[in-house]
Amino acid sequence: MDLDRVIDDPLRETAAALASLLMRLPDPDTGAQVEQLETELAATFGVRHAVAVASGTAALHCALAACGVGAGDEVLVPAVSVVMSVAPIVFVGAKPVFVDCDETGADFNYVDLGSKVTSRTRAVLSVYLWGRSGDPQRLTAFAAERGLRFIEDACQAHGSRFAGRGLGTFGDAGCFSLRDGKILWSGEGGFILSNDAAVAAYCRAYRTHWQMPPAGERPMSRLGHNYRLAEPLAVIARGNLARFDELVGRRRQQSSLLTSLIMGLPGFTIPIPRPEEEWNGYAPLIQLDMPDSRAFSERLAAIGVPNSVGTFRLVASDQRLLFAPYSPSPCPRAKAYIDSMLAIVVSERNSDHDIERYAEILLQEMNAWPGT
Ligand SMILES: Cc1ncc(COP(=O)(O)O)c(C=O)c1O
Repeated sequence: MDLDRVIDDPLRETAAALASLLMRLPDPDTGAQVEQLETELAATFGVRHAVAVASGTAALHCALAACGVGAGDEVLVPAVSVVMSVAPIVFVGAKPVFVDCDETGADFNYVDLGSKVTSRTRAVLSVYLWGRSGDPQRLTAFAAERGLRFIEDACQAHGSRFAGRGLGTFGDAGCFSLRDGKILWSGEGGFILSNDAAVAAYCRAYRTHWQMPPAGERPMSRLGHNYRLAEPLAVIARGNLARFDELVGRRRQQSSLLTSLIMGLPGFTIPIPRPEEEWNGYAPLIQLDMPDSRAFSERLAAIGVPNSVGTFRLVASDQRLLFAPYSPSPCPRAKAYIDSMLAIVVSERNSDHDIERYAEILLQEMNAWPGT
């Protein structure tokens, strides 16, 4: 096969680097690509430490453990979240406490948040669903005043910023996914950002069965996991990191193209981020004002417009049967927000023509929807 012909331009260098790595594998002692990736991630995001791991879920698990969250602790987490945000809280033996959102859906309802702090609360985990954020500065202050650790689930928030600072760099640890579909991707993978050397050292030890312990500890004196990122995936991540600004720019352009095509039409409202928020455009977001909006999203998924509710069956986390033991009181705003939000799944592979086609389908389906 003529690789030069079939590989996209931006990926040619990555393909060459992968080929060169393959010539050296198997090499169980190699780790050079992961190390390089970590150096580049720390520089790109402007933090002291980056630790590459096998997935965003692994990043959250490592970060929670590194922040000392364990059995008997409670972690405040938005109901506007995904299963993968919440599962790691349960993995470390802690209890997720679901908090409702504010009227924008992107931030905590601070009355609900404050009322759910108990003597067992150990941490607050913010989740930047669809790359949107509340006010991480306010949350930093909230956590500091109460002596809580602050962990960020920035798995969808690569490139989003608040008041000029990248999401995932505000808390004790920021957790990212590199899974396909994320703006920065490597097939599978993840990483943790932190300015705290102890958090980073713990994550490094935890990701590889405590074989490389923090200074002063003996190897394998504690249990960890195999959460290492494979070298070939680090090569792919590095290739994409080199064009990170372009990838974020492309996603933003796709989101604004789609929303510009339907803005102002009855039944569709485009959420407007607050001025400090520089959104990465992770998914074109459209608030649906119509009867049975979940069924509308499901219908769109069935006819080729992939979206969070219709394709991935997204529901507010407090609504999931799986988490019923942790949901003493429902979070009604979170339910209304997720059920009525059409978040369209796009990737750099989607052309402008695809996006225009999605807008056409949306219009057709809206006009035909009973009750609109
Ligand atoms: C908000 C959020 N948190 C956590 C995760 C988990 O990441 P991963 O799939 O890489 O484990 C994802 C990705 O699916 C996500 O979107």
